[in-house]
Amino acid sequence: MTKTTAGLDIQPLSEVIGAEVNGIDLSEPLDSDTVAAITDAWHEHIVLLFRDQEIDADQQIAFAENFGDVGVRSRPAERRPEGADYNASIMLVSNVKKNGEYIGSLPDGEMWFHHDMCYDKAPHKGTFLYAMELPSKGGNTLFANMYSAYEKLSENTKERILGKRALQIYDFATRETVDISDDISKYKHEVQPVTITHPVTGRRALYVNPLITARIEDMPDSDSRTMLDELFAFANDKSIAYEHVWKKGDLMMWDNWCSCHARTDFSASERRMLRRCTVKGQQLYE
Ligand code: SIN
Repeated sequence: MTKTTAGLDIQPLSEVIGAEVNGIDLSEPLDSDTVAAITDAWHEHIVLLFRDQEIDADQQIAFAENFGDVGVRSRPAERRPEGADYNASIMLVSNVKKNGEYIGSLPDGEMWFHHDMCYDKAPHKGTFLYAMELPSKGGNTLFANMYSAYEKLSENTKERILGKRALQIYDFATRETVDISDDISKYKHEVQPVTITHPVTGRRALYVNPLITARIEDMPDSDSRTMLDELFAFANDKSIAYEHVWKKGDLMMWDNWCSCHARTDFSASERRMLRRCTVKGQQLYE
């Protein structure tokens, strides 16, 4: 057990990614030593779990503000579910319906691996997801360590992707990449480096994912497809991932620059509701 100077217990969740942080009540303001200890643990473990928290939306935002400016949601108002009661920074991830309409986003079932906001010029650095209602089985969130995904590539592949850029494009789906033979101007999109250097840790991470990355730029389509399929192999590599089975009251914070996440399937007949906010980031460079 690691004791920090701020009195936190930090227990790894797996050998490659994630740690549980004990001894902290997120409904209370945090002192600067505690914020510094959490920030260091975040950069080391990429994903942090805080169990048994009782926090409302304002407390969740106040906690997130310790790590950056809270982000504004990217989905335009006209694309939001009808039944939703919206706050600009809070997103409900939920399949719950009110008057026949979803009250939240990303409602049902499996979700492919993705980096939150990679289709934005300055991808948000952190996501904070708090569990309020959960199905009896499934709806687990998988986190992949994208430093490890990069390190596991062959030297030949690392050379081939050096300097390459990829189109990141998203239409708020969970298991479908945007069809880019269509007019892409109506979708959120941005060209990003295929690998990024993490602005804080200085480590290199693979920055493509099966849900949002549609094409490697300046390459024939078939070569781009082959290269992406090779890079997406990380999504089936359990040795670089941690699967989180949620409990009510869990808050997880993750670093979107060096991790990717996915969701396992769950029954549409059971309710699932989590509350999400993000902190802003910056433009990323190779
Ligand atoms: C998300 O990708 O933000 C949602 C993940 C989840 O529902 O587990």
